Amino acid sequence: MATRHKLIIGDCTDMGEIADESIHLMITSPPYFNAPFDYKDLYKDYEHYLEIIRKFAEETYRVLQKGRIAVLNIDDMLVDGEKYPITADTTRIFLKAGFRYRDRIVWKKPDGYLRISRRSGVLLQNPYPMYYYPDNLLESIIIFQKGKFNYRSISQNIREASKISKKEFLDKKWYMTLWEMNNVMPGSPLEKNIAAFPDELPYRIIKLFSYKGETVLDPFVGSGTTMKVARNLKRNSIGIEINKSLIPIIKKKLGFDAQGTFLNHNDSFVIVYREKKKYESFR
Ligand SMILES: C[S@@+](CC[C@H](N)C(=O)[O-])C[C@H]1O[C@@H](n2cnc3c(N)ncnc32)[C@H](O)[C@@H]1O
Repeated sequence: MATRHKLIIGDCTDMGEIADESIHLMITSPPYFNAPFDYKDLYKDYEHYLEIIRKFAEETYRVLQKGRIAVLNIDDMLVDGEKYPITADTTRIFLKAGFRYRDRIVWKKPDGYLRISRRSGVLLQNPYPMYYYPDNLLESIIIFQKGKFNYRSISQNIREASKISKKEFLDKKWYMTLWEMNNVMPGSPLEKNIAAFPDELPYRIIKLFSYKGETVLDPFVGSGTTMKVARNLKRNSIGIEINKSLIPIIKKKLGFDAQGTFLNHNDSFVIVYREKKKYESFR
């Protein structure tokens, strides 16, 4: 089964290139509100950040097919000593955009990921009440649905081709709201300075909420993890990314070799440069 992949270089608060109800699954991790360096000028303040989330939620609702799923990997954020309730605010925004709130999964990173930070270690210097500031090992994966899914709309062939392994479901404990998954190591060369999620996250979501041959959208595609996993799982993908300097990384993740050849000629890849009104096509 040949698959098609499109990378749009632009701002996902407008998804003008994507037709209404043409997407089967949206999965993304929006930028951190306190994201360093690059994004400094992107958000004036928290309200401005939420305004971007609101526009992206409305566009996601428009492009998703009826009954389909939108998934966000997100979490509350500590900035200059203030904790921002991003998960709750984003949930409200998605409900307001028309989605049903379907589930919340907690992603737990390995314990060894954290060493006691200066913040939590304050208690060791001051072992008294009121000095408690725990370190965060968790992220949320919030799941929304656009109305109800019509299971009969999928042919028997496609259902069978997209079957989920019961062994994987049981062995990896997909049935729980706690997912224990490794994170991408901070020193990983391809994802340097990008808060990339591990392949395992879109892998589970794509398997659980889409069928082979369907189209998966990631509006904050970063290093292209979602597109890569979608391709491996025989789904089409659309990624949107505001930072064009990530193009070489996305191409590499998606399967380009060092000579710039897109491996496997059955699949196709297009880059749409919105600003320049041009596109590049690879096969
Ligand atoms: C947390 S990273 C996504 C990482 C991705 N999940 C991965 O595995 O590599 C968020 C990305 O969103 C991009 N971004 C920020 N604002 C954007 C916007 N308005 N439209 C499109 N992309 C945006 C950033 O440049 C960044 O690459």
